[in-house]
Amino acid sequence: MDKKERVILTGDRPTGRLHIGHYVGSLRTRVQIQNSGEFKKMYIMIADAQALTDNADNPEKIRQNLIEVALDYLSVGLDPSKITIFVQSMVPELTELTFYYANLVTVARLKRNPTVKTEIGMRGFESDIPVGFFTYPISQTSDITAFKATTVPAGEDQEPMLEQAREIVRKFNATYGEVLVEPEIMLPPNEASNRLPGIDGKAKMSKSLGNCIYLSDTEKDVKKKVMSMYTDPQHLQVSDPGHLEGNTVFTYLDAFCRPEHFAEFLPEYQNLDELKEHYTRGGLGDVKVKKFLNKILEEELHPIRERRAAYEKDIPAVFDILKKGCEDAREAAAQTLSEVRSAMKINYFDDEVLIAAEAAKYGNKAE
Ligand code: TRP
Repeated sequence: MDKKERVILTGDRPTGRLHIGHYVGSLRTRVQIQNSGEFKKMYIMIADAQALTDNADNPEKIRQNLIEVALDYLSVGLDPSKITIFVQSMVPELTELTFYYANLVTVARLKRNPTVKTEIGMRGFESDIPVGFFTYPISQTSDITAFKATTVPAGEDQEPMLEQAREIVRKFNATYGEVLVEPEIMLPPNEASNRLPGIDGKAKMSKSLGNCIYLSDTEKDVKKKVMSMYTDPQHLQVSDPGHLEGNTVFTYLDAFCRPEHFAEFLPEYQNLDELKEHYTRGGLGDVKVKKFLNKILEEELHPIRERRAAYEKDIPAVFDILKKGCEDAREAAAQTLSEVRSAMKINYFDDEVLIAAEAAKYGNKAE
């Protein structure tokens, strides 16, 4: 497909501030595409309604984090003059689509969705799954198809969602006619970016584990977190050979380091392979590598922090950006919904042919 024809849609649940795992996993890609101009439309959605599917008893948390996520978006450089940033619950067309798509999906199929399966386990929902949570893959299909999105930048964990969305699209199109577009996932550039571990080396950065570096963390906090990072527990002395496997600092370098960082911050080495080679051989201390990583992160995070500070000065303006985005999004979603309704033959009042045929059946005289 021609890159300029891409329609991009992706989003995040507003359950907390966004961290650098979100950044390398998807935010960075969104900004790159935005600035390349190689897309037709880009929609970024704050998935508050989806967040409520497993936070029904805590709406205040979602409400508070709406603006945090909006600020995080703007601070990484997402630009409302180029793209549309909107709030899921403010686009009611998405809910209506979900109701129709639900007829095309079986309970057995939802139960097999690996993402839902894992999440049910994580949340202890085994015996008592809220219906809304169980069916959120259908709602996510509405989010994507309402905009006829072709491309969804997201982590690997979202692939089962995309697979389910494609199935619904195929079923819809086969049953009612070609209206919807099959979306594809756009994965992060490498394995480290796909699953950035927490600073403690645990599988994934997560708020509940307290192992995140947030986009909004201060310079001091970031440095403290980097210096405390999990490395290789067997690398006790500088002269010891070090291991890269499971070494958080090197995983972060895989996600963040670019060749030009060496000339800038660590000119004794040409590139990351050389640095890794020295570490594995022995003679390279953790502190030196951590300081290098901290400089790279600071270079990336400093402008993000500055932009955030500027937007924080005018919060009503941020709400206005979202409101305007919701208007754009509604317009696009309403267009698709109208096509969906026609295809499903539930567009009674604007179907002249239907009205005339029914009238003729009852012998009404044409005027
Ligand atoms: N499920 C995504 C997450 O947990 C959020 C989301 C909702 C989303 N709707 C989407 C992502 C549509 C991509 C496309 O972060």
